Amino acid sequence: MARHKIGLIGAGQIGGNLALLIAQKQLGDVVLYDIPAFEDAAKGKALDLSQLTAVDGTPSRITGTSNFAELAGADVLIITAGLPRKPGMSREDLLAKNLEIITNVAQNVKQHCPNAFCIVVSNPLDAMVYALYKIAGLKKQQVVGMAGVLDSARFRMFVAEALDVSIEDVHALVLGGHGDDMVPLTRQCSVGGVPLTSLIPGDQLDAIVNRTRKGGGEIVALLKTGSAFYAPAASAVSMAESYLLDQKRVVPCAALLEGEYGLNNIFMGVPARIGAGGVEKVYELELTPPEQAMWAKSVDSVRKTVEATKL
Ligand SMILES: NC(=O)c1ccc[n+]([C@@H]2O[C@H](COP(=O)([O-])OP(=O)(O)OC[C@H]3O[C@@H](n4cnc5c(N)ncnc54)[C@H](O)[C@@H]3O)[C@@H](O)[C@H]2O)c1
Repeated sequence: MARHKIGLIGAGQIGGNLALLIAQKQLGDVVLYDIPAFEDAAKGKALDLSQLTAVDGTPSRITGTSNFAELAGADVLIITAGLPRKPGMSREDLLAKNLEIITNVAQNVKQHCPNAFCIVVSNPLDAMVYALYKIAGLKKQQVVGMAGVLDSARFRMFVAEALDVSIEDVHALVLGGHGDDMVPLTRQCSVGGVPLTSLIPGDQLDAIVNRTRKGGGEIVALLKTGSAFYAPAASAVSMAESYLLDQKRVVPCAALLEGEYGLNNIFMGVPARIGAGGVEKVYELELTPPEQAMWAKSVDSVRKTVEATKL
């Protein structure tokens, strides 16, 4: 079987780390794409990473380009093209500029890679994944947004720290849009099978939920020059891996809803199975009235941002 080809659209902070992780996990060859003004940066990162493969002993070929045609035949595209937040900005503040960028990306995807499985990372996530789906004319199974894996990872980290337990044994689920009103489902969380609600008092759990909701902003405020990139890259790679290796992992991600949760024509963070068929199945959860209220607020925010795209 030929090696997989993975196209990374955007060779910035997340793009570079995606390439590194893909090479180290030996998932396939990587093409790092950026606009002509950043072609040298894409080529420079590709060269640096190619030299790392000698030390790591991984077979991936890594190249940089500003010619989208070189992405033709890609099995997976991970899209990070777009501006990141600066301190004080909300993800929604990025909408106008990043919509322009995603429109350009989507037209290129339609022309050169109409069959690739597309994982969108650019913010505001839920609107950008919708824009790519609409403009590129993709099938719903073929396009997904990365947010829930990262938001759940943040929640797991805060819980592991609070309880002094291995992060591996903390199971968490964060649903909804990738905004400050995302929906961490504390009722579904457990530590080695023990319900989290029996381990952490309510006010401490509320503080963890709050910190998770603002987890991206906390890092933006510390970095000052952009947003998080290591954990976002690892989260997107885990989704690409599940597709390429048909792992059928069930992870929270932004999937197109067609009737599930009583919604239509909207990407929302829900548990979904990712395998060789792309987004193979969306799982529905029964929500309690307070969870339903949080979910409705999140849906409302996502709808407003998507409406602003006028797509
Ligand atoms: N979904 C999430 O959970 C999550 C988490 C962190 C960051 N993000 C988002 O991911 C995006 C990328 O973040 P980053 O830190 O890598 O930013 P970055 O600025 O380091 O990289 C973005 C790259 O996109 C490139 N770009 C611009 N227009 C392009 C186009 N038309 N085609 C291809 N590339 C283009 C830029 O030249 C730049 O190199 C941001 O929008 C950020 O908000 C999302």
